[in-house]
Amino acid sequence: MFLDLRDRDGLVQVAVGPDWSTAASVTAATEVRAESVVLVEGDVVARPPTGRNPDLPTGDIEVRAATFAVVGPSTTPPIPVARARGEELASEELRLKHRHLDLRRPEMIANLTLRHRLLQRARATLSELDFLEIETPILTRPTPEGARDFLVPSREQAGECYALPQSPQIYKQLLMVAGYDRYFQIARCFRDEDLRADRQPEFTQIDLEASFVDTLDVFRVVERLLVALWSEAGHAVPSPFPHLKYADALERYGTDKPDLRFGLEVEDITERAREWALEFFAAQLAEGGRARALELPAGGRLSRRDTDALTASARGSGLGGLAWLRREGERLVGSLAKHLTLEQAALEDGATLLVVTGPDRLTSPALDQIRTETISRLGMAPRVDHAFVWIVEFPLFERDPETGAAVFAHHPFTAPHPDDAARLTTDPWSCRALHYDVVYNGNELGSGSIRIIDPQLQRIVFQFLGLDEQEAEARFGFLLTGLAAGAPPHGGIALGFDRIAMLLAGAPSLREVIAFPKTTAARALFEGAPAPVAPDDLAALHLQVTE
Ligand code: AMO
Repeated sequence: MFLDLRDRDGLVQVAVGPDWSTAASVTAATEVRAESVVLVEGDVVARPPTGRNPDLPTGDIEVRAATFAVVGPSTTPPIPVARARGEELASEELRLKHRHLDLRRPEMIANLTLRHRLLQRARATLSELDFLEIETPILTRPTPEGARDFLVPSREQAGECYALPQSPQIYKQLLMVAGYDRYFQIARCFRDEDLRADRQPEFTQIDLEASFVDTLDVFRVVERLLVALWSEAGHAVPSPFPHLKYADALERYGTDKPDLRFGLEVEDITERAREWALEFFAAQLAEGGRARALELPAGGRLSRRDTDALTASARGSGLGGLAWLRREGERLVGSLAKHLTLEQAALEDGATLLVVTGPDRLTSPALDQIRTETISRLGMAPRVDHAFVWIVEFPLFERDPETGAAVFAHHPFTAPHPDDAARLTTDPWSCRALHYDVVYNGNELGSGSIRIIDPQLQRIVFQFLGLDEQEAEARFGFLLTGLAAGAPPHGGIALGFDRIAMLLAGAPSLREVIAFPKTTAARALFEGAPAPVAPDDLAALHLQVTE
């Protein structure tokens, strides 16, 4: 009998037979069910040449079992673990429900092993740079930082709650005040927000902060860390990373998370479009909108289906649609073809122009999506495999798209750009922030800033955000008191560790690199959380559930 024996390191064939195994072993091997835990003792021997399996790393050997015993019998597995060639994975719901079995799959073992190695490498790299790993509380004060808090009701203090940390932001700033001038933490963070494939309600950051640093000092530390992590996963990546201003990123790619593996930049063709004097552009241009375009060089040929799909996504972004034009020899095709002459089109043979018109707040996200979709539909080859970029000079404030109110682009502890600080009270919207993001192949890996250290300036910012003196004191008093105790200049960043592990594992979702993740409905299917709580337990917490 030949059996596949599997552990964390791989798979090996076990041979059980009456000539070399005990009689009890032969019986056990006959009766053993798939996925049972067994104990085998025997000799590792070369397989006969005809029995070798070149597809298996251990295909030239087998374990000839002297004894074979079942120590942990398994019930019939509800999902396939050792899949036959071509056999499909179980649905994600089933995989998450039976996670203990799903985690036995070699792909999951590889992902979690990589995650472990990345964590160790991050710790080692930051320790070498003299950063101290310091843990901060999980039960904290509710202090909203842009997303929603998970609350933990207090049993001792009726009606009061702790909050789980959305990030250790304030604690790490207080550590700087306290003189721990280089801090890091592999920090678990909790945010009750809408989820996507790249968001989880609880996730892990590599959080760091340092004193007496400027932006470039932070960049150097983060570059050293990311280069080390990428090398741990087998990729040599160059540093320093290029910088791109936020305004330029939006202008050239329509997004502050551009995928720079590809060229394909957005062009402003407003002047050209004005000369075309087309009725359906005129209204948009007259209202101050712009005409912006992506020009695909010859060879990038979109089918009718592609342009229909791109038009649908432009409409989905709130635009009237997508106008397009291609030159094929001496003729033009596309929605603009019948309105323009060859000369007006000014396109090289084979080139395609995709045009949207409207206000930037609509055209930018539309162009981002059209660019991303075009790259994928055309299967464009990347110029490089790893494109890191620092996005810098973010605006300090943004308008909430729903209410129009001022909100902080990053968080309210971010220092204004020194060239703009004097305009903070007179023209706050024009102020840039000392805020930076590190972006990799179109993914935001991390975000950070140089912080406000002047309590007075911090109060002004709170005021601008609509917090009166009392409210600011109630919510952030402990930070203001800390800053008043003598704060060194400081700054830092938090990197999304799950995202890094996901990208380096080549996985499609964070759930593939987290042992026990939540679904997009924020449910834990394995253990069944969240779950109702007995009335007595609620009463002890001074809580009552209403309709
Ligand atoms: P920010 O909120 O931008 O900054 O978070 C930093 C990074 O954490 C990752 N991230 C997430 N990953 C998975 N699931 C989520 N729900 C999730 N939310 C964020 C992202 C993001 O770039 N205190 C500041 C950092 C600082 O200023 O130092 C902060 O938390 O990769």
